[in-house]
Amino acid sequence: MHITFKVRRFDPNKEASQAFYQEFPVKTQPGMTILDALIDIKARQDGALTFRKSCRSAICGSCAMQIHGLNRLACETQVEPLKKTTLVIDPLPGFRIIKDLAVDMESFYEHLARVKPYLINEEPPPARERLQSEAEFKLIEDPIACILCASCTSSCPSFWYDTEYVGPSALTKAYRYNFDSRDHGAGERMEVLDNKHGLWRCHTIFNCMDACPKKIKITQHISNLKKMVVAERY
Ligand code: SF4
Ligand code: FES
Repeated sequence: MHITFKVRRFDPNKEASQAFYQEFPVKTQPGMTILDALIDIKARQDGALTFRKSCRSAICGSCAMQIHGLNRLACETQVEPLKKTTLVIDPLPGFRIIKDLAVDMESFYEHLARVKPYLINEEPPPARERLQSEAEFKLIEDPIACILCASCTSSCPSFWYDTEYVGPSALTKAYRYNFDSRDHGAGERMEVLDNKHGLWRCHTIFNCMDACPKKIKITQHISNLKKMVVAERY
């Protein structure tokens, strides 16, 4: 198949108003991914085209971008099944663009740090590991799959409106630790959750779940966090 890639270009040395779509013809093959096509464009047509990638296996989360209007991982989205003759590629929305498809993830990681995404437990560690029953693990198994790609936060209208909102990705991490039987940090995470830029900014729009490449039940986890906060405080 011959497909035209319309790729958003932004040069940080020029005005934002000078950003534009550049068209690149690509001859595709079965199994070719969006990332393969971008690498091909960079190798054969424009070496200055900028985008992020690392693992090429849907694990590192670095290649998230907007593919024909939907946030997706470029390395796992195949071109031909999309059945388009023209594919529009944009950077993740809601973040400052550094160049072309690369966005500034600093605010994303700052929001993540605010929810303390690590095990908090002041008790001395036992001789072996801190044990967990199968039922306890089941509670957190789903969000453990998060690869921090930011597709969810970037697709959330509440985040577009309020960039101080910690966002669905950070809230999913907060759930993952608050509901971990080995963690004692729920109290330390309370202020950032029970806040107008925290849990209550989620209006259950579900864009996050449509965008998540790991099919994590983000909205359900946020809802359970809301119930936990109400039970503790109200
Ligand atoms: S919850 Fe899903 S969409 Fe959000 S950062 Fe994690 S893997 Fe990406
Ligand atoms: S390159 Fe790592 S998730 Fe796509």
